[in-house]
Parts: sequence; structure tokens; C-alpha cells
Amino acid sequence: MASRRLLVDVHTHVYLPRYANVLRGRSSVPRILKRANGDERLLILDHEHSGGRPVGSQYWDRDEKLKFMDRHGIDISIVSSANPWLDFLPASTAQTLAHDLNEDLESYCSTSPSISGSTMKRLFGFGLLPLVPDVSTQSLLDAVAQISSLSHIKGIIMGTKGVGKGLDDDALEPVWEALAKSGLVVFLHPHYGVDANAWGEKENGHVLPLALGFPFETTIATTRLILSGALDRHPTLRVLLAHSGGVLPQLSSRLASCIAHDPVVTSRLKHDARYYLGELYFDAVAYGAEELGFVSDVISRAECFSTPGASTKASLGKTDRALGSKHMLFGTDHPFFPPLTATDKWMSVVENLDAIDGVTGWGEVEKDRVRGGNAIELFNLSK
Ligand code: URA
Ligand code: ZN
Repeated sequence: MASRRLLVDVHTHVYLPRYANVLRGRSSVPRILKRANGDERLLILDHEHSGGRPVGSQYWDRDEKLKFMDRHGIDISIVSSANPWLDFLPASTAQTLAHDLNEDLESYCSTSPSISGSTMKRLFGFGLLPLVPDVSTQSLLDAVAQISSLSHIKGIIMGTKGVGKGLDDDALEPVWEALAKSGLVVFLHPHYGVDANAWGEKENGHVLPLALGFPFETTIATTRLILSGALDRHPTLRVLLAHSGGVLPQLSSRLASCIAHDPVVTSRLKHDARYYLGELYFDAVAYGAEELGFVSDVISRAECFSTPGASTKASLGKTDRALGSKHMLFGTDHPFFPPLTATDKWMSVVENLDAIDGVTGWGEVEKDRVRGGNAIELFNLSK
């Protein structure tokens, strides 16, 4: 393995050509629409403004991904299919497409160049499970087995719907069990946001659904997962949260307090709610040093809350910001958030790198972990 410090992007997306063709064949959202002038537009969100977003080779061409990585000094990317994955498909189609896309992604990664001075590839991936209503449990388990057999696929990406009823659905229990056993990392990513009525009537582009809706969706889904007890039953399950866990770090003490005051829930969990934040992983896609520092503090205090109803004084004076950095990982969200005017480096990338660099209380060791060391370990990339 290369001895230099590596920059690893754990939050970077692709619409594989096979998937882009499915979107091109559709007449309702999600779809790729060709305009009269030949340009293609992406319409994936329910209230996407009429023209959709410009979409092009940066969404599906591997050379474009590698060029973007070179331009930003990214050594390795763990590439995931972008939303809305297979959510809109009938079970039989989702099952076949998941299988084929997982094979496509393995070949996208395994035939990628190696990082200089090493045999390690530059691209790894998150596979897909056919997580749609009416799918059989066996086909979900078969997909976990398929992905486990693909050596460059190190995890799975999933949205928040599960098989239709969310992530606290009992039907998912065998899936969590298989994922925990497999060692695959579950990357939990939003798509639906929250009720669009919350955004009012003014035209604000994508700002409200992306800046607020996405992170609130992740927060709710993760909280429901915690409340279901799945993290108690499967302590080896490794879940990576998009966008630094949304607002869960900010609300975790409130959550703990609400649990402690609720007779239905109070005895359900093995630990205080804040404990589970130390079991989770957070991408560092938060665009600000203060936010990353705060998330790191919240992760680092988790250990103080291993018993339900632990005193809020438990963590006082004991938080060690450096400790939390072990569960945080650099990401870009490429190819989303392209610059509005041509620039050499993308603002979305520079801001996330600057944020890591600027966290008070993180030394070079912690920053290097977040930039790549944690990803090498979490995804076992030396193998
Ligand atoms: N917009 C999306 O639709 N998905 C992302 O991952 C980021 C922005
Ligand atoms: Zn994303």
C-alpha cells in the first residue's frame, strides 16, 4: 500500500449507463429528458422545477470521474449509485437491475487505474439491494451475497424507504442481520426530503429540499432505525450517514430526553440515545469547520452514555474532540453541486476540504484520518 496519505472520497455518485438508459426510457419522474436542442435534463425530485437539472457525461462517464478526482487530488473514490436508486421500479425489475448494476459497478471499479506506487485501485463501490415493496426477503439476501462476492464493492447505498415502510420495518430484520455479518458498510442517503408544503410558495430552486429536506429525512430515518433497536440487535452493523448525519447530532440530547419521558419507549433500548451516535459513521459533507467539530464532539461523548438514562453530566469535561474524528470521512457529493461558473476546482470540494483543515482541536493525525485514513480502515481498502 502507498505510504503517503491518501485522499478518499466516500460520498460520490454515478448513474451507470445501464441506469441512465432506464431513466431515458421513462415519461414520468424520475427521468432523463432530451430537449429539442439535444441537451439532456435530469428530473428526479417530485417538485423539480420544470426544466430539471443539466445532466451530462460527468454523471456516467468513468473518465470524467477520474478527471474530477485528479483535478482535486482525490486518490480513491467509493462510488455509489445516485438517488432514487431502484425505488420506483416493480420488484422483479428492481431485482434484475440491482444484480446487473452491481456487476457493472464491479467492472467499473476493477478495471480502473491503480493509485501510483501501488496495486490498489482508484475506484471502489457501494452496491444496490432491490429495496422495493413486495420484494422477497430471499432476493434481498441474495443481493447481499452477490455484493459480498464482488471484491471492489465494499458496501451498499440505501435510501430511507426500506421495502416501503421505512427503516424500522420488522421485514428488514434479516437484511440487517445479513449486512452486519457481511461486513458491508451501509451508506444511508436521502432522496425524498420532507413534506413539500413546508417550503411555501416562493420559488427557491433546490435550496430548501437539498439544504434542509435531505438532512431532515436522514435524521428521521436514522432515529427510527435507532428506536427500532436494530443497532442493539446488530452491534457490528456499520452505517455511514450522508451529510454528517443531518441534524441528528444537534438533536441527540433532545431525543434522549424525549425517550426518557416516554412510557412506551423508555425501556426499549439498551443504551441512552446519544450512545448510538458513537456506533455510526458520518461523512464530512457539512461545508463548515464548526459543524464538523461539533459532530466530532457528539461522537466522542457517546461512550459516556452507554447506560439508559445516563446523567447529562456524564460527558462534562470528558469529550475529546480528536476521538470523534475516527468516525468521520471526507466526501464531495460529485457530480452534484457543480460550480455555476467555470472554475478549476469545485467550491463544494474546496469547502469540505477547508472545513476539515479548519477544525479546532484536530491535529494533522485527525485530519489525515478524516481525509482518508478512516476510509482505508472502514472499507478495508488495503486488501
Ligand atoms: N442532489 C441529489 O439529488 N442527490 C444528491 O446526492 C445531491 C444533490
Ligand atoms: Zn449524495
